[in-house]
Amino acid sequence: MPGHKRNPDSGEMAAYYDIDITEIDGFDNLHQAKGLLQEAQERANRLYGAQETYYLVNGSTCGVLAAVMSVTQPGDEILIARNCHKAVYHAVIMQGLRPRYYYPGRIREYDIYDGVSAERIGDLLDAYPACKAVVVTSPTYEGIISDIEAAARIVHAHGKVLIVDEAHGAHLGLFDRKPEGVLQRADSGFVDKKPQGAVAAGADLVIHSLHKTLPAMTQTALLHVNGSLVDRDRLRRYLAMLQSSSPSYVLMASMDSCVRFLEEHGAQRFAFYQQQYKRFCDKTAYCRHIHIGKMTKLSENAYDLLAWDTGKIVISVKNTSMNGSRLHEILREEYHLQMEMAADTFVLAMMTLMDTEQGWQRLADAICEIDDRIEKEACTKTEPLQEKQTVDRQELYPDSRMIPAQAFHGEQEEIPLQNAAGRTAADFINLYPPGIPLIVPGEIMDEIVVGQIAESRRMGLNVQGVSDAGMVCVVRE
Ligand SMILES: Cc1ncc(COP(=O)(O)O)c(C=O)c1O
Repeated sequence: MPGHKRNPDSGEMAAYYDIDITEIDGFDNLHQAKGLLQEAQERANRLYGAQETYYLVNGSTCGVLAAVMSVTQPGDEILIARNCHKAVYHAVIMQGLRPRYYYPGRIREYDIYDGVSAERIGDLLDAYPACKAVVVTSPTYEGIISDIEAAARIVHAHGKVLIVDEAHGAHLGLFDRKPEGVLQRADSGFVDKKPQGAVAAGADLVIHSLHKTLPAMTQTALLHVNGSLVDRDRLRRYLAMLQSSSPSYVLMASMDSCVRFLEEHGAQRFAFYQQQYKRFCDKTAYCRHIHIGKMTKLSENAYDLLAWDTGKIVISVKNTSMNGSRLHEILREEYHLQMEMAADTFVLAMMTLMDTEQGWQRLADAICEIDDRIEKEACTKTEPLQEKQTVDRQELYPDSRMIPAQAFHGEQEEIPLQNAAGRTAADFINLYPPGIPLIVPGEIMDEIVVGQIAESRRMGLNVQGVSDAGMVCVVRE
């Protein structure tokens, strides 16, 4: 193995097969690393400062599954932030857990989820003392960073494990790419606090997608462990179950190359990044309609976030004649700029330390030009750039009839969405991206959720879990 034998005649991909080896002599074994893979994992570990670091060849997905499963037993309770990625929900199903939810608030200025408050986590752990662990996502998809240090303190005071899905924050705390950050709190006003990565902030298990924000191949990720609350043997057994027995050496080489690159060039690249970010902000500061998401533009409202990652650029068209999908289309079709996602009132651009000066400038110029077009339209009141359409989205707090695993594995049937009110969901219904569930298996679909799903579909948003024919999967009665 591999069957291609590095033969140049093995088809269109043959040129790449040269670097694709397997566990031959001298090349170690990821599942019992003692040689070069152990050294490589230790190198990654030194960069992040965790007690132990594991390579993941199946993305953060695999790290989230292993983390949750290693600290729970089937039937346990777990506290999870409702805006967690679907991988967390999949772990809940695989382990037959009862989820208790932390519902994060919304940052009204930009229509995005807020961070989590340590105090509210503490209240929920008092209310649900059987929870074995807490899972939060920080940064969120839109870059919102929570105060993980405070959360770790409270979670540990309750004797529980804190898992931080930092898939989008593998760069945090490294070098000088500081997120924008001042803590905004109702009780203490503005307090300076340096945002750091979740490893340094004291979380027990931290998951990083190297491939999302750093120069590494898709699927590459890391799992870090700290403290004495996590049974390392159990964690390793889950990793051995959830990862391929033939982990790709191409992916593992890419992880090591990423870590070495950061060691050698990280500081300089991050400095370049900050310079470009500042120029981008200076240029777009003159826009009259389009707003770039920033901590400094948040109102006096008491939000829970600690900081905002500058790599996630929320380009907001809220209260203009344009919506997110139209802006996404214009940027793609007319400016050949591919955004990460479009939401009702904004598009999200992801910038990393590998973006070029030209890339930054093209994005800033495009935003300024589109802003001018909105201004002209507003002045002349001529043909609008588009009809404004957004979904009136009410927060959903669905009740549960059974745990997700019971609904997911039990008898199911498909029914039209419009008949689903009062029925128990047997599958997830997600708005994608970012893939956060509107409804989880075991939850009751009421009139409000059915209406919201129908409206999102009418608007052409990508709703996963409803078939093209408008059918949804519910528990058979
Ligand atoms: C917050 C979060 N966690 C975990 C994942 C899964 O990461 P991966 O694609 O590396 O498996 C994602 C993917 O988008 C994510 O956004």
